[in-house]
Amino acid sequence: MARWLRIDAPPSMTCEVIKPDLPATPAAKTPTMSTPAPVTVIDHPLVQHKLTLMRQKDLSTSSFRRLLHEISMLMAYEVTRNMATTLIDIETPLETMRSPVIEGRKTVFVVVMRAGAGFLDGMLEVVPGARVGHVGLYRDPKSLVAVEYYFKMPGEMHERDAIVLDPMLATGNSAVAAVDRLKETRPKTIRFVSLVSAPEGIANLQKHHPDVPIYTAAIDRELNDHGYIVPGLGDAGDRIYGTK
Ligand code: URA
Repeated sequence: MARWLRIDAPPSMTCEVIKPDLPATPAAKTPTMSTPAPVTVIDHPLVQHKLTLMRQKDLSTSSFRRLLHEISMLMAYEVTRNMATTLIDIETPLETMRSPVIEGRKTVFVVVMRAGAGFLDGMLEVVPGARVGHVGLYRDPKSLVAVEYYFKMPGEMHERDAIVLDPMLATGNSAVAAVDRLKETRPKTIRFVSLVSAPEGIANLQKHHPDVPIYTAAIDRELNDHGYIVPGLGDAGDRIYGTK
């Protein structure tokens, strides 16, 4: 049975891509320094179709925002695939049974501001009980280094599964900084979700946090000299909020 979906990735990048409709292998669940956690490309046709629309430069702000909302719901479906469930006793109209439920409150969506906020509402529609944390980072335009200006997480992080939301995994500097800070709160698990990723960003995040699985809808060709993903979709924050 084919377990891996192949993608074109530069040889320098360690990148295992799991076909999303198959369970993760035990090896993927326990990454080592030489085998980082997997990168899952969510290649569902609905996700790919919506991303194609979003990439187009003449799309209106309202359409971009609506599509991001829709795509984040679809991605949430894959990202939460391995979520723990517990059995509860319920009564159907015919008899009692034990049936699985997820503990949504144990999930915390960690928004990397500001573009990550555009990803949040769709995720919350799928997991309404989730808590939300925020990390405020900006990219120094010259050095491209991430600078933190805000950090707020819910309590009892040691009981929670954290899902970090940032639509663009570009240099990976913000992602690394966000996960660095998040790890100080000791969540049970951490996953990283981006819409579009650059190979450089994936390599950077995997180098610093090999234990964090990455979920993305696309791995694009490269970064340009300004740190933008190409072909990409431009500045996600500007396109969500109409600030260009
Ligand atoms: N941030 C964005 O919004 N877009 C990019 O291409 C890179 C970083």
